[in-house]
Amino acid sequence: MFLVVLAGCGASSQKRAFEYMPDMARDPAYKAFAPSPVTRDGLTLQRPVAGTIARGYSPMHYGTGDDEAARAGRELQNPYAATPKTLEEGKALFETYCLVCHGASGKGDGPLAEKIPHPPTYTSDRVKPFPEGRIFHVITTGSGKMPSYAAQLSADERWKVVTYVHTLQQMADDAASAQPGDLK
Ligand code: HEC
Repeated sequence: MFLVVLAGCGASSQKRAFEYMPDMARDPAYKAFAPSPVTRDGLTLQRPVAGTIARGYSPMHYGTGDDEAARAGRELQNPYAATPKTLEEGKALFETYCLVCHGASGKGDGPLAEKIPHPPTYTSDRVKPFPEGRIFHVITTGSGKMPSYAAQLSADERWKVVTYVHTLQQMADDAASAQPGDLK
């Protein structure tokens, strides 16, 4: 005992003192994929509790297919109004993720359109009447050959894209009904 006390106090101020009981100052951490003697399944990395929702992620309780898409269209509301800021953000996201197939004005004539089954124009008889919630559903779950964009775009970003797509549909309307005299 006497020796230990000497060793602890005798170190010079330049050298770290001898530690005889570091308590938990430096605890050995398990590696994520190493076995663990304390968990029930013997794994260190544990699954999240059932029903856990990742931060910033909003789950969508709709399946795929036309019926579910139509239900989403009836039930989901776009939290964003078509303000210039939202449209600008929606446009930037659209041009990053959708233009490549759907084309800048949503006519289904993007640079990739030849390589995949032609995407429909947003003003087709089928897509034109889609409520915003249904377009959100398409982006979230994908449709036919179109993949889901839920991993690339957060729910908020998807709604901004929806707002922009909706505007593209209306712009096409205005262009169709415009008379030569209306052109500014
Ligand atoms: C890889 C090419 C590709 C990309 C990128 C893409 N789409 Fe599509 N999209 C398609 C194809 C192909 C279809 C037709 C799918 C089908 O037959 O249901 C489609 C269909 C749609 C439809 C109509 C769905 C229906 O039920 O008729 C909407 C709306 C749509 N896309 C929106 C978007 C938006 C918004 C984005 C960007 C987030 C996007 N798409 C990105 C290829 C693409």
